[in-house]
Amino acid sequence: MPVRRVLHGVLLCSLVVGALSMAVPAQAPAPVPPADPGRRPSRVVLTWRDDPARTQAVTWRTDALVDEAFAELAEASANPGFAALARRSPARTTAVPVPSGTAYYHEARFSALRPDTMYAYRVGDGATWSEWFHFRTAAAEPAPFSFIYVGDAQNDLRSLWSRAIRAAILDAPRSRFVLHAGDLVNVGESDDEWGEWFGAGSWINGMIPQVPAVGNHEFGRLNREDPRQLTTLWRPQFALPEDGPEGLAETVYSFDYQGVRVIVLNSVAETRLADQAAWLESRLKDNRNRWTVVAFHHPVFSVAGERDNPTIRNAWKPLFDKYGVDVVLTGHDHSYGRGQNLTEGVNRRDEETGTVYVVSVSGPKMYEVGKARSWATRTGANVQLYQVVNVSPQSLRFESRTVTGQLFDAFEITKARNGRRRFIDRKPELSGTY
Ligand SMILES: [Fe+2]
Repeated sequence: MPVRRVLHGVLLCSLVVGALSMAVPAQAPAPVPPADPGRRPSRVVLTWRDDPARTQAVTWRTDALVDEAFAELAEASANPGFAALARRSPARTTAVPVPSGTAYYHEARFSALRPDTMYAYRVGDGATWSEWFHFRTAAAEPAPFSFIYVGDAQNDLRSLWSRAIRAAILDAPRSRFVLHAGDLVNVGESDDEWGEWFGAGSWINGMIPQVPAVGNHEFGRLNREDPRQLTTLWRPQFALPEDGPEGLAETVYSFDYQGVRVIVLNSVAETRLADQAAWLESRLKDNRNRWTVVAFHHPVFSVAGERDNPTIRNAWKPLFDKYGVDVVLTGHDHSYGRGQNLTEGVNRRDEETGTVYVVSVSGPKMYEVGKARSWATRTGANVQLYQVVNVSPQSLRFESRTVTGQLFDAFEITKARNGRRRFIDRKPELSGTY
């Protein structure tokens, strides 16, 4: 910081301290220039482009003064000399205009990794580096693990969403990924909001891969010619699989993790629901995983107000039923709902379960639960939540907790060798009013 500005700050401080009784000045202080992007890597985030057992992608950003960017990777060791064994790989760089100038987004891909192995990596330009981060590759076979799922973050990301993501990580620090059901920010093109989002997750993003779905707020309302255009920040900052239908790359994708197939859909692309359905069917038909989790933004069964999304329900639910999708995780309604919509011929007494549908919210924007939401066996509003999902070959245990740590909802699905499912409701008695 220039000396003149420091002196100015000291002078201003002493004036304020000395004149507390004075009226608030009419003019707001000049905004502090952002420190990001700079030469030092920021917004470091792990994602997968490919098989989580053998690959890992990382993106980060710097200012445009960085000529070349690299990642270094070594198997992690308690001996700090591990760094001498690191191998360096070049990053691909994309220039993205931001209000403060141009940001360089860098992406490195690690491949030929060993399954179920802890690695250490750092990113930088050869002189200025991030710290060393650790991550663990997935096992190549089905094995128990946990993941975190959160609904819309969207508003007050620094001020109030931060407590949700941090509570989730502290509660389940060994989670293998964090699934976001869309509307990560309020204005998709806002670099400042993304800065808050990355600040809330901070170094966690560098250690636990993020699995984001797009919400309506990731689409640029600033671009009047095409209001359905995905924010220009999405693809440079998240390196995601490109196995989805043409034109929906990195918003529709899938991957397998230790016996779970995770499928992320784009419910905002309303003119593309049918081709997503065809693609979805291909991913469900060719699925040897024990469990299937599908995530996207708009609820199949709504919670808030008079909301309803029949086009999404009509396009995709028949496939969830046909192929026995276990859970569908969504957001958008700024409230909580969880329930089943049992297919014909099945009822709760059979102890079989249909797909379990969940709507949740992690940020502070809240909507009231609408009347006649009989599909849901647990609903809630005015509560910031996160979810921890524990999966093993035999069972899927789901817990929703408030950001203050109270158990808000829970259920378990068990699966026999023949694939027959049993649903066990474990929702707790609640002491508060939600
Ligand atoms: Fe939304």
